Amino acid sequence: MADRNVRPTESENDRIVCYNPCGNSLARFRATGGDGRMADNQQMQIAIDGLVAAGKSTVGEMVAHRLGILYVDTGVMYRAVAYVALARGADIHDDAACGAIAATLPLQLLPPTVDDGRQATALLDGQDITWDLRSAAINQAVPIVAAHPRVRAALHVWQRRLAAEQSVVMVGRDIAAEVMPDAKVKIMLSASLDERVQRRAAEMQRHDPTTPVDLLQLRLAIIERDRNDRDRTLLTPDTLIIDTDHLTIDQVVDRIVEVAHERYG
Ligand code: C5P
Repeated sequence: MADRNVRPTESENDRIVCYNPCGNSLARFRATGGDGRMADNQQMQIAIDGLVAAGKSTVGEMVAHRLGILYVDTGVMYRAVAYVALARGADIHDDAACGAIAATLPLQLLPPTVDDGRQATALLDGQDITWDLRSAAINQAVPIVAAHPRVRAALHVWQRRLAAEQSVVMVGRDIAAEVMPDAKVKIMLSASLDERVQRRAAEMQRHDPTTPVDLLQLRLAIIERDRNDRDRTLLTPDTLIIDTDHLTIDQVVDRIVEVAHERYG
């Protein structure tokens, strides 16, 4: 179980610090790592979209690290809206109610504050909700909440402002089409259902080695989420599709970094 009320530490490794614009500061970014090949005045936008368990967040975080730029996982934002709606007893089918939550979401996305396998820490009003966002209840509620136009509009404002302020790798479903249409690097990660089930099972085992994973249930849950997210997973004509089934994570990251250097110099 994750520690509660963890405050971000100031460390050399801090690379992701972004605040909802309803807070005082939009985004703060300290670049560490990276290969330094990016021109000073060149702002990079790298959009990575894909279905559930296609490897978006692992790959996106590594690409951001290699390039030394901000990493933003937009799925966490939608999950946090669902979390607040459920916690407040709001109607998750109500566009206006969920949209109001999204517009004032006191969410901070930070580098990992606890060494427990997380890729980033999500703080809601200072409370660590990183693992709460991964619960079955949130998995079920999030596609309903994410379908609301007011929720999407509010989160798009935040996401576009983040992308306008600094170089960014942003992962999600609609980043290339809706959030960063001018990005020079647009990637859709694809993987077979079998592969995605195996990857998600391995991830769950890493987080909780004592609880066996029911592969059939997991498979059905992924199929269900694919169905629910179908209309929101958008492919643009200029998107490069990378089939990751027979590639290692490093190979996928290398390919995207290579494309980033080609397009941004
Ligand atoms: O990427 P992740 O699985 O954490 O995303 C959680 C949910 O948030 C997705 O299943 C989808 O319903 C929604 N989402 C979205 N648009 C995005 C990112 C996530 O609708 N850009």
